[in-house]
Amino acid sequence: MFLKGVCFYSMSELYRFGISLEKNLIDAFDKHIKSRKYQNRSEAIRDLIREELVQKKWTEGGVVAGAIVMTYDHHKRELVNRMLDIQHDFQGTILSTQHVHLDHHHCLEVIAVRGKARDVERLSTTLKALVGVKHLSLSISATGEESD
Ligand code: NI
Repeated sequence: MFLKGVCFYSMSELYRFGISLEKNLIDAFDKHIKSRKYQNRSEAIRDLIREELVQKKWTEGGVVAGAIVMTYDHHKRELVNRMLDIQHDFQGTILSTQHVHLDHHHCLEVIAVRGKARDVERLSTTLKALVGVKHLSLSISATGEESD
């Protein structure tokens, strides 16, 4: 099956290429991209490639951007102090921190990060290990440079 109209931007230039795929695979892909509300196959494939490149940067230790989202119990007093110490230690990696008081006990913190994958991961795992942290998730993205 020939997949028509796959387009990619590279330094503002648009390239086209064709992809040969089995019919059942392209049928499944079309169903998938329809459920994800993609306008066309090009957009869906572009996102898949970007995702793959971000993952590659992550595994190879490149520079990534992302966000750490965590909830914690602020009544654990040592936790708040420890968190602040850690955030100061990683000031080169942390771009900004947003704090939201969820309820009497719980706080939500969103930490925007940009840095080497290993530093981002170290920050994330260090925070996650703190007593009183209820949940922490790390989401990584591309930095917008190079092949992004
Ligand atoms: Ni709070």
